[in-house]
Amino acid sequence: MRPLDLRSDTVTRPTPGMRKAMAEAEVGDDVFDDDPTVHKLQDRVAQLLGTEAALLVPTGTMANQIALRAHTQHGDSVIIGKDAHCWRSEAGSLAALSGLQTHITADYTFTADEVRAAFKGGDDPHLSLTRVVAVENTHNAGGGLCWDRARLAGVIDAAHDLGMAAHLDGARIWNAAVGHGIAEREVAAGFDSVSVCFSKGLGAPIGSAIAGRRDYIRRCRKLLKMYGGGMRQAGIFAAAALYALDHHRERVRDDHGNARALAERLAGARNLRVDPARIQTNIVMIELERGTAAAVSQQAREAGVLINASGPHRLRAVTHLDIDRAGVLRAAEVIADIAAAL
Ligand SMILES: Cc1ncc(COP(=O)(O)O)c(C=O)c1O
Repeated sequence: MRPLDLRSDTVTRPTPGMRKAMAEAEVGDDVFDDDPTVHKLQDRVAQLLGTEAALLVPTGTMANQIALRAHTQHGDSVIIGKDAHCWRSEAGSLAALSGLQTHITADYTFTADEVRAAFKGGDDPHLSLTRVVAVENTHNAGGGLCWDRARLAGVIDAAHDLGMAAHLDGARIWNAAVGHGIAEREVAAGFDSVSVCFSKGLGAPIGSAIAGRRDYIRRCRKLLKMYGGGMRQAGIFAAAALYALDHHRERVRDDHGNARALAERLAGARNLRVDPARIQTNIVMIELERGTAAAVSQQAREAGVLINASGPHRLRAVTHLDIDRAGVLRAAEVIADIAAAL
């Protein structure tokens, strides 16, 4: 029997319908910019996000890194929320590839005042100039957290007032849209660049996109080639992403319901803490009151449940297309039993 896999929403396998769409995709050479399915996807993403243009790239990491690079020069600074993926989980590439300094805020989300306080500008030659504010919505390490919309609007306005760009890491913008109860283009509103992933909640095997103004996306396209991300018959992946947009966007709502069900079942369990009221999307953070996350993760694996540690005493469970309500509740029983015996 396949294990119940709650490690991430990236573990999904393409469905038969998606594989068929991939097999039948009309393709060209995307480095020559003549893959019709890639064009179709890019137009669709731009339309969904309300931007002039979009660019298919292989991964969310590459999307963030190119997006931030295209707003900056080496030696510039970026303001980033606590534990954001582009800083914590992209192998130091902001420093390694773009030569950027970072100002990390105290919490996952932050305020316009914090942006103003962190900003460095002007002619003082001592300073690294702050060029971008990067926001993650939903926030992965924050437990699938949706930003407060008024707070976010303030942050974007502050960035623009200070002459900075605002970047959205919208790897899970589909979850954010459902979590907020608004369209993706409203989640993306005001940002100068947006990265999105098709390979997370939407269930595509590969692919992300950067969206923004036409001239900005042209710069990103050049960087994509520089970073080695220029793909040839990429229409095969674009077809999977288009299929995912058509068939899997609405159903992320089910993942949110499953995450809440998991949290509610675990809320009463011994030796751990979960707050169901905090579950806004598809990620559940479980704080252990005894034992270590690594040991619980190992025991769960032996019992057929895959769940990753997200800190010494914290586990992260992510719901997705390949785990249903019954699977989630079975996994909850296993985790609750292991915790109770700690
Ligand atoms: C918020 C966020 N941004 C970016 C990424 C990077 O995506 P990829 O794994 O496709 O590089 C992830 C991956 O989990 C993520 O959670």
